[in-house]
Amino acid sequence: MHILAQRYQRFADIEAQGSSPLYEILARHVAQNHKLLAFLETMPDEKQQPNLLFAAVRHIAGLQATAAGFERALIENEDAVRTTMLTRSTQTNEPARCAVLLPILAQIDGPIALIEVGASAGLCLLPDKYGYIYGEKTLKPPDFDDQTTPLFHCHATANTPIPEKLPNIVWRRGLDLNPLDVRNEEDIRWLETLIWPEHEQRMCNLKMAIHTAKQEPPIVQKGNLLTDLNDLVDQAPKNTTLIIFHTAVLSYIAEQGDRESFAETAQSRSDFWISNEAAQIFDRIRPPKTNLAKTGRFLLSVSGVPKAWTHPHGKSISWI
Ligand SMILES: C[S@@+](CC[C@H](N)C(=O)[O-])C[C@H]1O[C@@H](n2cnc3c(N)ncnc32)[C@H](O)[C@@H]1O
Repeated sequence: MHILAQRYQRFADIEAQGSSPLYEILARHVAQNHKLLAFLETMPDEKQQPNLLFAAVRHIAGLQATAAGFERALIENEDAVRTTMLTRSTQTNEPARCAVLLPILAQIDGPIALIEVGASAGLCLLPDKYGYIYGEKTLKPPDFDDQTTPLFHCHATANTPIPEKLPNIVWRRGLDLNPLDVRNEEDIRWLETLIWPEHEQRMCNLKMAIHTAKQEPPIVQKGNLLTDLNDLVDQAPKNTTLIIFHTAVLSYIAEQGDRESFAETAQSRSDFWISNEAAQIFDRIRPPKTNLAKTGRFLLSVSGVPKAWTHPHGKSISWI
């Protein structure tokens, strides 16, 4: 089978199945369609991802409810879709991931200076601005508004240290190869397009998080986490507890050696280095053997020590 066809088939079988019926149908359709595979072959490898293709067609022609509609929309808008795929990338910003960071952040004495690498639009830089529900426990910032502030529901195992308070963050900065801006309508539209079609609660959370972020937009600087972290750390105010964190980012760094040298910088230049990534990202952070490792959970670690398994979209946390 064609290698690209296999990639789309795998996406349908492993990623979309059980999560997005529509993307599962579209991925199977692409995997069997020579015309669509030929279009993808004109793209560089890293631009051939299913997520990027589906988002680009949706961005240009709107969501297509059938495989035939999708194929038509792509063929009729081939140049615009190609341009979108070449100029944009998958930068899904999932603010609900703050719900799995909070049990760690709430244990750290402030004032806190927070750096996020791979921040996209910086929505995860605002954990103190959102509301949370962990079972019986609800936490809300003082200016919480039912209509416009996200309230993230997170299932936490009984041994998870449920936060008692929101963290005291006095300074925050993001770093990203391509920062998105919550004040830019095209960037907002792209962020919305990256949410999978059936994920209505995530879309609602994203819109509310963007609304919250617009009140005081987080600063996300353009730069590479492999080369520009030291400069950003130098900007952090003294007399604060410096936290460097990242979620769903290091899979973009292909070489294990690069991940390790980033980890060394992040750990040595911060008071706490928080990583929330796929379990196999770091060879040296050894998760305990558990079935959760096989169910696509992220591993949350603090300064190299595994702390919890987390749902990739922040829906649950299982403390280790
Ligand atoms: C999937 S998004 C995750 C965004 C955010 N951390 C979250 O969890 O919602 C990954 C982000 O990492 C950024 N990124 C990838 N490689 C990077 C690098 N070498 N340096 C800085 N940012 C990078 C991408 O541009 C993208 O915005």
